Amino acid sequence: MTHKKLFVPGPTEVREEILKAQAQWMIGHRSKEFGDLNHRCIEKTRQILKTKNYVFWWTASGTGLMEGAIRNVVRKKVLHTINGAFSDRWFKISQACGKEPGAVRVEWGKAVRPELVDAELAKGGYEAVTITQNETSTGVRAPIEELATMIREKYPDVLILVDAVSSLMGDWFDIDRLGLDVVVASSQKCVALPPGLAVAIVSPRAMEKCRTIPDRGYYFDYEAMLKRYEKDHQTPTTPAISLFWALDKELDYILAEGMEKRYQRHLEMAKFTREWAKKYFAVFPEPGYESVTLTTVTNTRGISVKDLNTALGERGMQISNGYGDLKEKTFRIAHMGDLTLNDMQEVTQAIVDILKL
Ligand SMILES: Cc1ncc(COP(=O)(O)O)c(C=O)c1O
Repeated sequence: MTHKKLFVPGPTEVREEILKAQAQWMIGHRSKEFGDLNHRCIEKTRQILKTKNYVFWWTASGTGLMEGAIRNVVRKKVLHTINGAFSDRWFKISQACGKEPGAVRVEWGKAVRPELVDAELAKGGYEAVTITQNETSTGVRAPIEELATMIREKYPDVLILVDAVSSLMGDWFDIDRLGLDVVVASSQKCVALPPGLAVAIVSPRAMEKCRTIPDRGYYFDYEAMLKRYEKDHQTPTTPAISLFWALDKELDYILAEGMEKRYQRHLEMAKFTREWAKKYFAVFPEPGYESVTLTTVTNTRGISVKDLNTALGERGMQISNGYGDLKEKTFRIAHMGDLTLNDMQEVTQAIVDILKL
């Protein structure tokens, strides 16, 4: 199979040495070796994210942990901030789990502001709020600092649940300082691993709350995960061991780069790609709320995004069409994980050449 460099917002490009790290001899998941491997991955993650909270790596995709967050810490009422497909998915998950979700909705491409959330929380009864830190369907970055500050000041008992699936370890926000109770992310985005693992970062009070919820399910039970971890650093069920080998190696790479530098690299790629988009097309998200990890471009020239992607494929690259109703109206260029500014220059120049701009 020929290699196409991935500029899609997940799965992202995985470096060859990380792909190869998966190809080690299998070990038993009840071995000390696996416990040590899991423990290393957890401690390195805490170090990278500068968090004292619990960290759990699950064998699942991010959606699993979105469901897990709802089941573990919401008894009934949860408020969802919705501005795209993934934030809407979390609302549907709450419905499917038999909860009573409320919603604050804004148009796709816009960010949900603290005033709207405040007005809804003021009605009372909510146990938690969900925030999609990086809405991948539109390329909007939530004003997480402002949202979290408002919630912490005015509604200290309300838990904050964050979907950072397409931003964690690319974009930066301080989990502990903002008092975020559950943050979830997938391996196949800014962590630059193959799909198959997902991480939940859980505050002590979210852990306390989970213990009071009797029907929190089985597979994603935080308490079961913690108990097993405290016993021998293992996981309650069989993990994707090959992916843990790759994770261990990639986390070393991220630590060596340093989170601050990694964030700066993402900012630099975002700035470059956004300027390019403004020059030849337009940028879809409202100004001031553009994602750090992907750029959603408005197709002002009415090009065929499908044909563009085919032509890019012949040059060994792939971008993403718009999501859902935004298909062909927008296209998305991801700059996440281990991609560099050179990669962004390469893909944008290829688009210019193909379209003869
Ligand atoms: C913001 C966001 N949330 C949730 C998901 C779902 O994650 P997964 O596909 O790992 O289940 C995605 C996937 O693209 C996403 O971008």
